[in-house]
Amino acid sequence: MKTMKTAVVYFSATNVTRSCAEAIHGELIRRGADSALVDVTPFSARSDPPPFREYGGLVFGAPVYGDFPPSVFADWLPTLAGEGKPCATFVTYGGRTPGYALYHMYELLREAGFRVRLSAEFPGRHTFNLAGWNMLPDRPDERDFETAREFAALALRRFDPGNRDAFSLQKPFGYDASIRMRREPPPSAERRWAQPVRVKECSLCGLCEAECPARAMDAQSGESDPAKCIECLHCVYICPEGALRTDDRLGPFYPEFLKEFGITEDILRHKQSRIIAAPWDTAA
Ligand SMILES: Cc1cc2nc3c(=O)[nH]c(=O)nc-3n(C[C@H](O)[C@H](O)[C@H](O)COP(=O)(O)O)c2cc1C
Ligand code: SF4
Ligand code: SF4
Repeated sequence: MKTMKTAVVYFSATNVTRSCAEAIHGELIRRGADSALVDVTPFSARSDPPPFREYGGLVFGAPVYGDFPPSVFADWLPTLAGEGKPCATFVTYGGRTPGYALYHMYELLREAGFRVRLSAEFPGRHTFNLAGWNMLPDRPDERDFETAREFAALALRRFDPGNRDAFSLQKPFGYDASIRMRREPPPSAERRWAQPVRVKECSLCGLCEAECPARAMDAQSGESDPAKCIECLHCVYICPEGALRTDDRLGPFYPEFLKEFGITEDILRHKQSRIIAAPWDTAA
């Protein structure tokens, strides 16, 4: 049998999605695929993507930000040429809900000409744990990675040109209204709570600016552009000198956040990774 060339293409600000992508990539290789791992988190990686044309199947992974995939990643998907290629999608989410993210990726990839053949969701530690939150600090764990490996095995079967298994996602209630709401408000020029703050002098190495997914960070001033910053906290996570922190208001907001969304320890404990494989499975 001919070796299938696959790529696992992921966006990951704090390495949660990356760890799931690595588990999927490792399993694809173990099962004989010629798999590539492609990190499209930095802005520059998306302006010059590898030639996806040469792959027999692609896996796209991203975290959930406010019920949707990161805007910069979602804006990039429609620029790809799907040319009828099969793909699979997965999201990681911080224990609240994956929201509309899988369905949104499904729509964008179909519009780009891909055939979405499978999806999955993985709970992972919340980005805002960097501000002292405590959402799923130990996830993804070995069970999640086991599901990621099962997902990879099934993706490989679904990428086979002869595979006829049906797959589609049903549009979740409220999706259209949420999309309209996302498009309507103009970007705010005010600093928001989840934007990074530089708290001490640094060597000005420039990493935060070079790696910023949204080209929002200015390393010289240590400030992000409020109109561009997607609050992913990648810069806080990677700064080698710990010079970037979260805003003082974000940490103390945690109890109110739990209350607002009715999130309890018990609910968090029961969050499970899930493969969505059949047309009657739902994405939200
Ligand atoms: C701006 C922002 C918004 C988020 N919104 C959600 C959300 O709507 N639901 C949720 O469960 N987690 C949410 N999260 C948590 C992330 O989805 C989660 O921590 C993810 O696994 C991070 O992946 P990464 O390390 O690959 O970036 C949000 C995180 C950020 C930074
Ligand atoms: S990554 Fe950290 S040390 Fe480097 S320029 Fe940015 S804030 Fe300064
Ligand atoms: S400046 Fe904003 S968008 Fe850029 S890495 Fe930092 S948090 Fe993310």
